[in-house]
Order: sequence, then C-alpha cells, then structure tokens
Amino acid sequence: TFVVTENCIKCKYTDCVEVCPVDCFYEGPNFLVIHPDECIDCALCEPECPAEAIFSEDELPEGQEEFIAINAELSEVWPNIAEKKDPPADAEEWDGKPGKLQYLER
Ligand code: SF4
Ligand code: F3S
Repeated sequence: TFVVTENCIKCKYTDCVEVCPVDCFYEGPNFLVIHPDECIDCALCEPECPAEAIFSEDELPEGQEEFIAINAELSEVWPNIAEKKDPPADAEEWDGKPGKLQYLER
C-alpha cells in the first residue's frame, strides 16, 4: 500500500486524489491519508505530489514509519476526497519544513 507522509501536512496540494483509480484518499483539516485496505498499489499518485509526500510502505524514508498507522487510523474517520481543491495559501512556505507532525490536525 502507499502512504501519505509528513511533508503533506500544511501543504495538502491534493493533486494526488485526481489520479487515484479507486478514490481511496481521505481528507482532514490539513493533511490527507490513504486507506490501506482500498489502495491497489498502482503507484500513480506518487509522482503527482508536488511535496513528494507519498511513498510505498516498503520504501518509506527513515522516520516516516509512524505514518503507516496514522494513514490506517485517520482513513477510517475522515471523509473521502476525489477532486482537487486549492491548497492552503501558505502551502509553499511549509513545503519541506521538518517536524510538521506536531501540526497535524485531526
Ligand atoms: Fe490510489 Fe494508486 Fe495511490 Fe493507491 S497507489 S492511493 S490506488 S493512486
Ligand atoms: Fe498531500 Fe501531496 Fe496529496 S501534499 S494532498 S499528498 S498531492
């Protein structure tokens, strides 16, 4: 399965949702997650993310392992998103900033 990782927080560009053939993205206030049981591993979303926040669970960068559980948990409670929307006005400022997990809104 594919996993949305930390750099999506406060960037949330949503380019990823447009290409997903099974619409398995779910949206929170400032982050998106992938439902692990619905993702078919097509890999289409990975190159679409301008923030490079999407990885296969087998190729997660070091320190991003906890996002496997975060995607599984929040995809059960957040609403589905299948259409791109405007990112936050300050998305570019946050792109690449370390330590964003503390800002994750649930
Ligand atoms: Fe959707 Fe494919 Fe990305 Fe899984 S890998 S979230 S199925 S686009
Ligand atoms: Fe997030 Fe990248 Fe999608 S920033 S919303 S994973 S395009």
